[in-house]
Amino acid sequence: MKLHLACITLICATLLGAQALAASAHQEHPRQLKWEFDGVFGTFDEQAIQRGLQVYKQVCASCHGLTRVAFRELTKVGFSENEVAKLASDYTFTDGPNDDGDMFERPGRASDKFPAPYANENAARSINNGAYPPDLSLMVKARPDGANYVYSLLTGYKDAGDTPVGDGQYYNPYFPGGLLSMAPPLMDDMVEYQDGTKASMDQMARDVVSFLQWAAEPEMQERKRMGIKVMLFLFVFTILFYIAKKRVWADLH
Ligand code: HEC
Repeated sequence: MKLHLACITLICATLLGAQALAASAHQEHPRQLKWEFDGVFGTFDEQAIQRGLQVYKQVCASCHGLTRVAFRELTKVGFSENEVAKLASDYTFTDGPNDDGDMFERPGRASDKFPAPYANENAARSINNGAYPPDLSLMVKARPDGANYVYSLLTGYKDAGDTPVGDGQYYNPYFPGGLLSMAPPLMDDMVEYQDGTKASMDQMARDVVSFLQWAAEPEMQERKRMGIKVMLFLFVFTILFYIAKKRVWADLH
C-alpha cells in the first residue's frame, strides 16, 4: 500500500514537473491548418507554390538562403524552361577560375541553386542582431510539425506583455523561448500576386509554407502515389492468395 502511494506521488510529481518545464519554455503549439499536401492522398497546389516562390524571392531571400534548391526544379511546379532561365539569370554568380586564373561573374543558369544572401555566417550574424537566419531549404522538415510551425511563426507575433524584450528582439509565442531576432517579415499587401490573389498576411504565409514544403520534399507526391499503388497491389494479391489457399486445401476439408 505504501509502495503504491509512493509510486502515485512520484508520477504526479513528474507530470507536474514536465508541465512546469513546458510552461517555462514559453512555446505555444502551432496552429493546425488544413494543407493540400496533408494525408495519404496529399498533393501539391502549384498555384500556391508559385505564389510562395514570389513571397520567398521578394521578402525572405534578403535574409534566408535556399541553397539546396536548383532553379531547374521549378519546371516541376508549372514553370516553363524559359521562365526558369529568365529567373536564374536575374541572379549573379561568381565562377571560375578562367584560363587566366581569375574568378569572374556570370548570370545564373537553370542548373544553379538559389544563392545565400550573405558571404558567410559571420556576415549574416553581424547584420541580424547576432542571430543567424537559417537556410530555408529543409526548414519545414527540420522542425516538428514544420508546416504549421512556420505558418504560426510568421503570423503569430504578439505584444510582449510583461516579458522583457532585448534590443533587436521580438516576441513570438510560437518560437522556443518566445524571443527571436527576426522582425515580423510579413505585412498585408507586401507583394502583388500576378494571379490576382489578395496578398493578405495569412495568404502569403500559407503560400510561402506551401513553397517551402515542396522545396523540402519535392518527391512527396510521387512517394504518396507509389504508396497507394503498393497498397492496392498488396490488397489484390491478398485476395488472390486467399482464393489459391482455399483451392489448395479444399480436398482436406
Ligand atoms: C530581415 C531579415 C529577415 C527576413 C526578411 C526574414 N527572416 Fe526569417 N529569420 C531571420 C533571423 C535573423 C532569424 C533567426 C532568429 C533567431 O534565431 O532569433 C530568422 C529565423 C527564421 C526561421 C527559423 C525559426 C526557428 O525555429 O529557428 C524561419 C522558419 C524563418 N526565419 C522564416 C522566414 C520566412 C518564411 C521569411 C519570409 C516570409 C523570413 N523568415 C524573412 C531574419 C529574417
